[in-house]
Amino acid sequence: LARGAVAPDLAGRHVVVSAGGTREPLDPVRFLGNRSSGKQGYALARTAAARGARVTLIAANTGMPDPAGVDVVSVGTAVQLREAVLKAAADADAVVMAAAVADFRPAAYAAGKIKKKDDQDPDPITLVRNPDILAEISTERARPGQVIVGFAAETDDVLANGRTKLERKGCDLLVVNEVGERKTFGSEENEAVVLGADGSETPVPYGPKEALAETVWDLVARRLE
Ligand code: CTP
Ligand code: CA
Repeated sequence: LARGAVAPDLAGRHVVVSAGGTREPLDPVRFLGNRSSGKQGYALARTAAARGARVTLIAANTGMPDPAGVDVVSVGTAVQLREAVLKAAADADAVVMAAAVADFRPAAYAAGKIKKKDDQDPDPITLVRNPDILAEISTERARPGQVIVGFAAETDDVLANGRTKLERKGCDLLVVNEVGERKTFGSEENEAVVLGADGSETPVPYGPKEALAETVWDLVARRLE
């Protein structure tokens, strides 16, 4: 291989990446959302394509141009993201859930804009749980040997929280970020530890989201062999 060229170690593979953050509508003009930019998911999609994979990128409210050579499916809510992930995962070799999925959605959607009334307190917003997509695809694998990767942003005892989450979800790999200033949300750089269900721990030093993406694909490719 020429210097700088990437080994096409994902050639013939179909990988699914979710990116961005879901938005859960309250009424036609308002939603509950989160600060996920989608940059890590897009970096995963671009690097997988460069390594020869067929890539389906499921994008939730990212507002970024489609990466070249990638099939993009746009979704809004967690329920829509679930539908798109289940469909794409049916024939996938690997699924990477980089999207920030809202844990809850408003129990009711108001078809008309919610208006304030004089001298009246606002109605409370009742929330209901969204489906846990990562846990669902991990416990009911679409294909034997499919590799499933989750992401988690944690505070406090980051590694212990990550290990507990990896076991609870049942995925093969969990990329754990420590949440803090300049890290994770909207930034160009990231620092993480990738935990494996096999007990492995792969630290990824602070650097571009592409570097973390390459490490994720290295670990996925090894498990696909
Ligand atoms: N995830 C998912 N479906 C959800 C919530 C999360 O698929 N309803 C996925 C995310 O895409 C991510 C991983 O699960 O890959 C971990 O998300 P996180 O929010 O850290 O996990 P939760 O189980 O929601 O735990 P917490 O209560 O800490 O938010
Ligand atoms: Ca959550």
